[in-house]
This record gives sequence, structure tokens and C-alpha cells, in this order.
Amino acid sequence: MPRFETLTLTVDPDGVAVLTVNRPDKLNALNRQVMRELNAALDAVESDAAIRAVVLTGAGPKAFVAGADISELAGLDTSTGEEFSRYGQTVFDRIESSAKVFVAYVNGFALGGGCELALACHLRVAADNAVMGLPEVTLGTIPGYGGTQRLMHVVGKGRALELMLTAVPVKAEAALGMGLVNRVVPAAEGLEAAKAMARQITTRGPLAVAAAIQAVRAGLNDADAGYEAEAEAFGRLCGTADFAEGTAAFLAKRPPSFTGS
Ligand code: COA
Repeated sequence: MPRFETLTLTVDPDGVAVLTVNRPDKLNALNRQVMRELNAALDAVESDAAIRAVVLTGAGPKAFVAGADISELAGLDTSTGEEFSRYGQTVFDRIESSAKVFVAYVNGFALGGGCELALACHLRVAADNAVMGLPEVTLGTIPGYGGTQRLMHVVGKGRALELMLTAVPVKAEAALGMGLVNRVVPAAEGLEAAKAMARQITTRGPLAVAAAIQAVRAGLNDADAGYEAEAEAFGRLCGTADFAEGTAAFLAKRPPSFTGS
């Protein structure tokens, strides 16, 4: 198994891998290194026939992933912002289009890019302490890793816009109620529950599982224009004063003051 600095990847004898984002001191925020290593881990998962399914989770008791790393976001401009969005879209699309099932185990905060990462997985099991949301507008930006499209497909346009525009996160039971997660389990047994769900799927016909994933995805292909619009807008927002203010305010631990410019 390859070794990573910001991820761990282990495989059970039953073919269920556990891929863990491992930056607990930063609530597993997705910086460039995590994204690069995630891409490399997907190579390892795809090329290892012993891996039949993957549970994706975050290290530590508090967070799945608390978003893209805001200290890196803050340095983006119009052009690097669009590239940033496109790279993240590509990595997360590899998860969504994988023939091996990915189950997110949402063990705490799944905000921004973390919520988008959970949405890229085929199924989501939430611990009872999970908190999920898309707070990007508080930073003067929008979800840039496919979230504007995937959230809409999972919970519908109305709820997706509510989550994105209000930036108010939801707790596990509310997430279950709107279909944002498939199941809520006590945190103490959550990883095992997610692994059990993955294991159950590995007993089904692998070609059929792959075909079901691809067929569902095929119907979503009109979203390409949506992803295009997302990356363009993300890059444009990275060049605004509001984005500089929103990210600077977070890092300085103060409320933002937006001017709409
Ligand atoms: N990017 C960079 N660092 C982050 C982060 C992110 N998305 N989320 C958390 N962190 C860091 C904090 O800055 C802090 O680092 P420090 O100890 O060096 O100051 C550390 O992780 C712990 O977070 P903290 O804010 O102290 O924990 P908390 O329990 O008080 O609050 C959250 C938890 C999730 C509510 C809060 O961290 C938060 O709002 N994070 C940002 C969420 C967000 O907007 N994500 C979308 C980004 S696109």
C-alpha cells in the first residue's frame, strides 16, 4: 500500500478499504497536498483488484473534513481559482465515476469541500454528531468542487439553494430527513456501520454494481454545463474584494464585512 503524509489507506481482508483524511489539527481541511495525495490514493484504489469498496472518512473525533483549506483559498485569484476548482472537480469526479463503491463515513463536521467530498461518494453514513453544510458564501465564494451540482441532485434544488445561500449547516437527523445522508448511526459504532454497508455491497454482483453507478451517472451528464459555470464563477469570485475579506476574516477569527465588490 502506498504511504501518504495527509492520508491513510488500509485494506481489510474482505476487500473493504478505509481511506482517511489525516490532518486532525486542521479538522482535516483539504489543502493542495491532501488533494494531490487523494488523487494518488485513487490510482492505488483503482489498480488494486483486492479493493472492492472504499469507506472514506476523517481522522479524529471532530471532523470528517471542515472544508478546503481557507489559508490556501485566501491566496487564489481569478485564474488560479478557476484552476483550483477544475482540479478539485476532476479528483472528486474520479470518486463519483469509480466502479468501486465509495461510502463516506461523516464523523463530525463536513463543511464546504468536506460536504462536497461526501457528496462525491456514492453513499453517506453519518455519525450522530455530524454537521453538514456549504458555508462558502460566508467567505465570499461558492462551492467549487462539484457541490453546486451534486447537492442539487441529492436533495433537490430548493433545499440545495437553502443550504448554499443561508450557509446554515444541518445536524445529522436533519441531513437524514432531507436525504443528504443515507443513514445515521451512533458515533461509537459508525465506522463499523459504514464498513458493513460497503461489505454488503461487495457481496453483490460487481459488474451490476458498477453498471448501476454508471447508469445513474449517465443521467446526470447534462450537469457538464453546470460544472463549467461553477469553475468560471469560482475563479471570478477569487478575484473579488469580498473573497479576500471573507477568507482574511476567518483566518483572523473575526466576522467579515462584505461590500459586494
Ligand atoms: N481551513 C483551514 N483551517 C481550518 C478549516 C479550514 N476549512 N477549518 C478549521 N480549520 C482550522 C482552524 O483554523 C483551527 O486552526 P488553529 O488551531 O491553527 O487556529 C483548527 O482547524 C481547529 O478549528 P477551530 O475553528 O478552532 O474549531 P472549532 O471547533 O472552534 O470550529 C468549525 C469548528 C468547523 C465550525 C470551524 O473550524 C469552521 O468554521 N471552519 C471553517 C468551515 C468552512 O467555512 N469551510 C468551508 C471552506 S470552503
